[in-house]
Amino acid sequence: MRILLAHTSLSGNTRDVAHAIRAHCEASAHAVTWVDVDTRTLAQDCPHVAGHHLYVLGSWSINAGRTPPEMKRFIADLVDAVGKPEHVAVFGTGETQWGEEHYCGAVRRIARFFDSPYPRLEIEQMPHGHRDAARIRAWTDHILTSVGTLHEDDQRHLAR
Ligand SMILES: Cc1cc2nc3c(=O)[nH]c(=O)nc-3n(C[C@H](O)[C@H](O)[C@H](O)COP(=O)(O)O)c2cc1C
Repeated sequence: MRILLAHTSLSGNTRDVAHAIRAHCEASAHAVTWVDVDTRTLAQDCPHVAGHHLYVLGSWSINAGRTPPEMKRFIADLVDAVGKPEHVAVFGTGETQWGEEHYCGAVRRIARFFDSPYPRLEIEQMPHGHRDAARIRAWTDHILTSVGTLHEDDQRHLAR
């Protein structure tokens, strides 16, 4: 499968999670297009946006659970390029000390915007030890398995 993996990260927590997801996708023989939206644009790193089977977006949260401007810009570019893709999975990091109701708010907002059919992965601060590594692996396995099944459903629907 071809996977577009885009993330924003101020202090590295979300980048660590993104790297772990990428490593797991590549270890499972999937091709990953990597976009660090803080320094790169969609056009620079991904001229052929359509044709990805899965879009994986990762974000930290800012200002009462909002989405950082760099990720908002990337999402606007993505929607301009291909509309809202069906297969978008969202992950991110946050801190409960900013208020339970705002915890990982950007992850929830992005998932809602794309009407994501996948579970969200939310990690408090930086990923720690075996437990978070196992959560990231299990989440990545789950979305990789689900996307295959959902694409098969799409094909069956089209064949009707
Ligand atoms: C100005 C500011 C506002 C923040 N607001 C929130 C928030 O509303 N909700 C939340 O979950 N985390 C909030 N955080 C915490 C970060 O999202 C969290 O530390 C995250 O892991 C940072 O990820 P990064 O290392 O990838 O930049 C805020 C952090 C900063 C600096």
